[in-house]
Amino acid sequence: MSDKLRVGILGATGMVGQRFISLLEEHPWFEVVTVAASARSAGKTYEEAVGGRWKMDTPMPEAVKKLVVMNVNEVEKVAASVDFVFSAVDMSKDEIKAIEEAYAKTETPVVSNNSAHRWTPDVPMVVPEINPEHFEVIEFQKKRLGTQKGFVAVKPNCSIQSYAPVLTAWKEFEPVEVVATTYQAISGAGKTFKDWPEMVENIIPYIGGEEEKSEQEPLRLWGKVEDGVIKKAALPVITCQCIRVPVLNGHTAAVFVKFNKKPSKEELIDRLVNFKGVPQELDLPSAPKQFIQYLEEDNRPQVKADVDYEKGMGVSVGRLREDTVYDFKFVGLSHNTVRGAAGGAVLCAETLKAKGYITAK
Ligand SMILES: NC(=O)c1ccc[n+]([C@@H]2O[C@H](COP(=O)([O-])OP(=O)(O)OC[C@H]3O[C@@H](n4cnc5c(N)ncnc54)[C@H](OP(=O)(O)O)[C@@H]3O)[C@@H](O)[C@H]2O)c1
Repeated sequence: MSDKLRVGILGATGMVGQRFISLLEEHPWFEVVTVAASARSAGKTYEEAVGGRWKMDTPMPEAVKKLVVMNVNEVEKVAASVDFVFSAVDMSKDEIKAIEEAYAKTETPVVSNNSAHRWTPDVPMVVPEINPEHFEVIEFQKKRLGTQKGFVAVKPNCSIQSYAPVLTAWKEFEPVEVVATTYQAISGAGKTFKDWPEMVENIIPYIGGEEEKSEQEPLRLWGKVEDGVIKKAALPVITCQCIRVPVLNGHTAAVFVKFNKKPSKEELIDRLVNFKGVPQELDLPSAPKQFIQYLEEDNRPQVKADVDYEKGMGVSVGRLREDTVYDFKFVGLSHNTVRGAAGGAVLCAETLKAKGYITAK
């Protein structure tokens, strides 16, 4: 019997679910023992349920092919087989909120990729290098839910991952105004070019709900724990445009920043390359060794060259230069379905395990 924690994936047949399955193959701490999806997939083997929908570059892991898919809505049954779950189901926000809390109430921690609970005051939304102290609200959430071990923790939206870590590294210089434009990959919508031919040689200047998330979620990451809830930060003010571009994986951000205490370019680069946090200090299995790389070449970061930096868990930054209207501008890039989705959630779960929040049942 393995001493790894037993993991279930809710929404295992979808794009993000598949990414979880791939990332957890051979994971040293976690073993996928249960896969769950809609009633359409329940009762089939994972291989049958996914069929031609497998979207990863690597083959489907043998260990999951024959697992029989359970129904996400059979909460007690799924929960009985696992120590914790990752959530990547696509349902309405209210349904996701309810089902994630239902799992927590069975004493099953839920680490979610979904947006439904990102603004629930006692649910931590964490990038482990930025705000691991927000996990402290879990104790208060457990009191509300009446649980001993069960809780919900979430990761933020994929689009902010290309600039929020950068602005965090520069916190001492007090960024006050940020203008960001994100150029977002089609996998962020769960699609490939095969499923979305309209995106070939095209740009669509609208991604529903994304601009508000891109402007507001960084403020929650930089917020403080007060009286058992997260109070969001007031600054910097962020305005954002989010654009869908014909790229499979990788969200790029072009960003302008104004600071209260304007630094030099050398200071900014120094803070980027020296930025690290709890995952690096604890040497967690999915932690990038170097979280942010700075690229000196004028034509970097590029999606094709840099999206897989640190196995998709790092952030690449380049083109940092002074600006005539703002203080500085730069370009950031991160992998939206690895660091921006499943990989970010796996790193949250590793941090939660290392800090004793997730244990064997
Ligand atoms: N793609 C990204 O990069 C990304 C990034 C951040 C957040 N997200 C969010 O992550 C979630 C999943 O995204 P995705 O791109 O992986 O979606 P997807 O490919 O459409 O997969 C959706 C998954 O949810 C299951 N599902 C759908 N309706 C259900 C229902 N009524 N009851 C139970 N299960 C149901 C599906 O099961 P069946 O196969 O049985 O239908 C499938 O496993 C969404 O909330 C999305 O907004 C996605």
